[in-house]
Amino acid sequence: MTQDYLKACKQLIGQGKYHEAITGLEFILHLNPNLSAAYSNLAICYSNLKNWNKAITSILNALGHGNNQYQDLEELLNILEKSELKSYVPLLEKPLKLAMELVKLEFRVIPLLWRQLISKHPKALSLASNSFTHAIDLLLQDEVFCKLIERSLITDYFTENLILISRQEILSRAVEGDDIHAYLPFLSSLACQTLLNDGLYSNTKQDRLYLNKILDNQNTTLEHFLLLICHSSFEESLMLWKKNQDLFKNDQFKSLTSDLQFYTDVSLSKNKGIINQKTSKLVQSFYMENPYPKWKSVKVSNQVKTNETDILFAGCGTGQQLIDFAITHKMSHITAIDLSPTSIAYAELMTKKYDISNVNFILLDILDIDTLGLRFDYIVCTGVLHHMACPSDGLAALNKVLTDNGRMFLGFYSRAARKSLKNIKKNIMTFLKTDEEGITRSGIKQWRSQLTTENKANAWYQVSDFFYLNGLYDLLIHPQQIEYSIPEIKALLNKCNLSFVSMSPTIKNREEFKLILAQNPTNKDKQTLDYWHKIELRYPEAFIYMYQFHVVKSPSSVLNNKRP
Ligand SMILES: C[S@@+](CC[C@H](N)C(=O)[O-])C[C@H]1O[C@@H](n2cnc3c(N)ncnc32)[C@H](O)[C@@H]1O
Repeated sequence: MTQDYLKACKQLIGQGKYHEAITGLEFILHLNPNLSAAYSNLAICYSNLKNWNKAITSILNALGHGNNQYQDLEELLNILEKSELKSYVPLLEKPLKLAMELVKLEFRVIPLLWRQLISKHPKALSLASNSFTHAIDLLLQDEVFCKLIERSLITDYFTENLILISRQEILSRAVEGDDIHAYLPFLSSLACQTLLNDGLYSNTKQDRLYLNKILDNQNTTLEHFLLLICHSSFEESLMLWKKNQDLFKNDQFKSLTSDLQFYTDVSLSKNKGIINQKTSKLVQSFYMENPYPKWKSVKVSNQVKTNETDILFAGCGTGQQLIDFAITHKMSHITAIDLSPTSIAYAELMTKKYDISNVNFILLDILDIDTLGLRFDYIVCTGVLHHMACPSDGLAALNKVLTDNGRMFLGFYSRAARKSLKNIKKNIMTFLKTDEEGITRSGIKQWRSQLTTENKANAWYQVSDFFYLNGLYDLLIHPQQIEYSIPEIKALLNKCNLSFVSMSPTIKNREEFKLILAQNPTNKDKQTLDYWHKIELRYPEAFIYMYQFHVVKSPSSVLNNKRP
């Protein structure tokens, strides 16, 4: 009988009759107070009615009683994302930590846990500080804070500053012989962050003095070793790990050892493929040293497309873009090519993390794509062609393997948006008193460590690439890049017989940009590059990340391709 009632309540929910459904569900719970499905459905009703307190209580009840854990955790995330709850709710911590361990939910939990943490530690996370305080001390010993810096790249200067103050304090305490045992979880997580940001944080003179004392000590302890990793470059960290693996048998360091193993496997990957073209070789060696982007988790959607298609990721990098795609298109065959063996190894290991089996990775130059003898219905190639000696040759090679009805999703640098990057680069060279050739990783770290508050307020200094060295290298020190204007993109597409379909602006959330877009609301206009050119003239930062757009083969070229 309960199941029939439940079915009826679900129908009411489907019809949007939430109040009636709630009455029914409360009756069911009166009969059977342990029925988790009733709580889950109550949560859905309250969430639709925007009664967030009751929605949260109901979903926590469902989690407490039920075995539908994944769905209930997912619903909890839906509710929290919609509610924008700002206050700290202790009861949420356990389920959110649980969700963090589920690969497909990990990415979504991170901002929610940050939100909880900010309201739990307002003094440490809202008030700027130049010294180590009791509030910061408490924060460092919070497991959630440690998990967050272990799992995701820190992309704000406030948290970065807090981390640097803490790192300095713990190092000085360790050298002075204090017991720093309580900070081991923090240090282990900070070591993960340091690996993720490629050892971005530079060391002060005082840090170096302390580090030398640690290195002089014959008896390196676990604490010392962790401190060394937190102050080392990426390569030094992997060397340290190679020599001291035995120190880390304890389960407490599982995440750090797994990261160290991951990056070791990536860096040892072999070059399985031959690259002939001169510029491609140059770009290959750049991305072998700087696999891009560095990442740990991605948003995964629930939609699954059942059609079977052949998809190409041309210049897949470390695979961040393809994970969600491979999951949602699980019936499709995905080929992912790149020049860089380290990027491919990174991407391949990540597909294992996400249990993906429909991607075939190949080390190959886009220029040689036709040697595979394959044709593709959809090609994704963003942030790649502008690193080729002749992007139109690359585009033509991709067009050749695109089916007649196929689509491409392309991404190119915008010259207008990147104008101020030239000044930033000049600024680095002036600071380091060198030319472009003389810029080194440690030089960039030094330059970054003296940025002013005014610098940091600039839009470019806030993009995530500014928070890890490989990102900064990709942004500023690339050996081969071509920037475009929209008329140049138009000419490039014409040359390759391709037609523009639609633009995907990546900064659509910026208020001023939304206003500009709203002034010309016809969809037909948006389907032309001329429209986007006008937009960019008014708002030069519109394509700060890139021009990203869909194209198809031009009708005339499809007709010419048809065989008699
Ligand atoms: C900036 S990363 C972009 C990665 C990925 N498309 C993304 O958006 O996350 C550029 C990638 O393109 C690859 N690449 C550059 N030129 C290439 C070429 N001629 N053939 C294949 N891959 C290329 C590089 O090795 C690098 O991994």
